[in-house]
Amino acid sequence: MSKGFEIPDKVIYVCTGSKCKKKGGKELAKLFRSMIKDMGLKNTVEVIKTDCTDRCDFAPVMSMQPANAWLHHVNEQQARQAFQEHILDSDKK
Ligand code: FES
Repeated sequence: MSKGFEIPDKVIYVCTGSKCKKKGGKELAKLFRSMIKDMGLKNTVEVIKTDCTDRCDFAPVMSMQPANAWLHHVNEQQARQAFQEHILDSDKK
């Protein structure tokens, strides 16, 4: 049975096109999914892997919505920091 059409409060788009995948895009998506699961945010935050966003020179590329925060050359530490700032702390402002 398929789920209903649900809209998350926040979305993390992670490019997993060929260049971003080589530079760790898939691992970033995995990291976010695991953080979301561990923090019990599965119903409010979703990770969507995208195909190439035409910014390959900046791989890996991702964005967090609705903050419209775009990050490039992202490493794990930056990913965690952005998650804190744009996903967890954004409700507190
Ligand atoms: S593969 Fe990610 S921007 Fe092209």
